[in-house]
Amino acid sequence: MDIEAIKTQIDSEIQNINSPEELEDFRVRFLGRKGIVAQLTSTIPSLPQQERATFGQEANALKNKILSLINEKQKLITAGPILPAVTLCDISMPGIVQDLGHLHPITKVVDEICTIFHRMGFSVVEGPEIETEYNNFTGLNIPLEHPSRDVFDTFYIVPQATRPTPHAKSVQRAACSVQSRLLLRSHTSPVQIRVMKSRKPPLAVVVPGRVYRPDAVDASHSFMFHQIEGFMVDENIRFSDLKGVLEVFAKAVFGKDIRMRFRPHFFPFTEPSAEVDISCIICQGKGCSVCGKKGWLEILGSGMIHPNVFKHVGYDSKKYTGFAFGLGLERIAMLKYGIDDIRLFFENDLRFLKQF
Ligand code: PHE
Repeated sequence: MDIEAIKTQIDSEIQNINSPEELEDFRVRFLGRKGIVAQLTSTIPSLPQQERATFGQEANALKNKILSLINEKQKLITAGPILPAVTLCDISMPGIVQDLGHLHPITKVVDEICTIFHRMGFSVVEGPEIETEYNNFTGLNIPLEHPSRDVFDTFYIVPQATRPTPHAKSVQRAACSVQSRLLLRSHTSPVQIRVMKSRKPPLAVVVPGRVYRPDAVDASHSFMFHQIEGFMVDENIRFSDLKGVLEVFAKAVFGKDIRMRFRPHFFPFTEPSAEVDISCIICQGKGCSVCGKKGWLEILGSGMIHPNVFKHVGYDSKKYTGFAFGLGLERIAMLKYGIDDIRLFFENDLRFLKQF
């Protein structure tokens, strides 16, 4: 029997083996007691003396080759067949509709408003919710005795060891240096200070973010809410620039028929200052319960940046002028979507959230 011919036969046969039964049959035929390899070795004694050793070695090598081929095949067969995916599932089954999450209504309004200002050339900047008293008040020209600095209007972060009793305001003041106290920012205006201290004009920036005030919670108050601050500083920025920018904003959010009015107001960090109303979007200005029969809804505070603020950030107030405004996002979202209770935004009731 020709060993080379047997090798060729093995190589072609092993290819076609696909089951453990076929593999066992193959093993018995080649390595079994009466198999081909056994038959080969049984011929050794009848060979001429000088050929026996070489033939024996070749027969042995053949046996080892068959063994390793069987081993390899065994692994392939037990790993299982690779079936086409279609045979693994029932393609007639109805599809499973995934319940996708979506953005919170406040996030949607933030995105929408930031996009409107971005189109007008504003960049979007964020600042920290924990602020220094300096950035939140002093840098913004808010005097030490201003009521908004009171512990009843601002959440101060007081080290445990020096935490005062609620009435010991003076103790608290004495315990920490006023400029270095930390607080939860009560508006987004401190980001004006941060941006202006790190950049030179011209600049046009909007700042969305959370703000905190110790208000009792009711349908229109929350101890945490969102604001968007906007400001622009350059040479020759005028009040009419503020009016133009806010008009584009109001029309983009509430529709082109919306009317605006500017009422004189006071903020320590702007001069002159104005509160801005839009015509009531519920009654179109005729007077209803949402606008308290006034026909107007207040939506933001604004004004020309006070020269003292420029002094704090190192800007030359003879060269530069600028405007700033700040608006409450929940209020805008409530008007836009007809929501009458601010608490709905924070309760995370899916029946409410799924409507947006
Ligand atoms: N920071 C003011 C507030 O929270 C809003 C405001 C911002 C007013 C900028 C004028 C200019 O009420």
